[in-house]
Amino acid sequence: MKVIFIGDIVGSPGRDIVEEHLPLIIEKYNPDLIVANGENAAGGKGLTPKIADELFELGIEIITMGNHVWDKKELYPMLESDLRIVRPANYPDAAPGKGYTTVKIDGKNLLIINVSGLVYLDNLNCPFKAVEEILNNVTYDYAIVDMHGEATSEKLAMGWFLDGKVSAVLGTHTHVQTADHRVLKEGTLYITDVGMTGPYDGIIGVEKEVVIDKFISKMPARFTVLTDRPYQLNAVFLDLNEKIITPIRIVE
Ligand SMILES: [Fe+2]
Ligand SMILES: [Fe+2]
Repeated sequence: MKVIFIGDIVGSPGRDIVEEHLPLIIEKYNPDLIVANGENAAGGKGLTPKIADELFELGIEIITMGNHVWDKKELYPMLESDLRIVRPANYPDAAPGKGYTTVKIDGKNLLIINVSGLVYLDNLNCPFKAVEEILNNVTYDYAIVDMHGEATSEKLAMGWFLDGKVSAVLGTHTHVQTADHRVLKEGTLYITDVGMTGPYDGIIGVEKEVVIDKFISKMPARFTVLTDRPYQLNAVFLDLNEKIITPIRIVE
């Protein structure tokens, strides 16, 4: 079971570089499934149905989300109706959408879970209990957890918590790929952050001047996605049977 997981796609630069490079990635790795984090795909903030469809047309089959899931209201009905989009499982039940989905590949059930960390993010339900509850109630042969979080410790804690219970724990949200990909002791594939897909010369996808000014002035600022080239694509290739995790990092 081979999977490509693409880190946070940011705005049109992210979509463009996926369109340009995904065919080559598919040719090289021959994946059974392509998953991407899409929480920043619409202008850096959230996702719209139109852009979700665009990502599906590019070959992405499952989209996971994160703290930006509520940025675009027009997505809410699609979160309810389209099983291919998954939002963090630890939002209350009253929130639209669901925290996991399953895909059947060659008769095997592949479970994909999205969950949000709590450190420097919204005060949601416990992410550890949320994942545990899903694993206890869903039948699966393989499971991939997108742990959307800020703190490296919280993501690694999720990795060890789920070691041997899921196929992979992949961190997203910081937009910076970490160099700590590994196989944990009981066989779970792990990386603290897959990194982002979009502009390269900004600050986590945003025009750098705006972010620098904000740090210096402490004033509110409107973040704009940098559209200048070069772009970058960060992803991981997973072989869930052979226990291989290979980071992919393309910079134009
Ligand atoms: Fe993000
Ligand atoms: Fe995020």
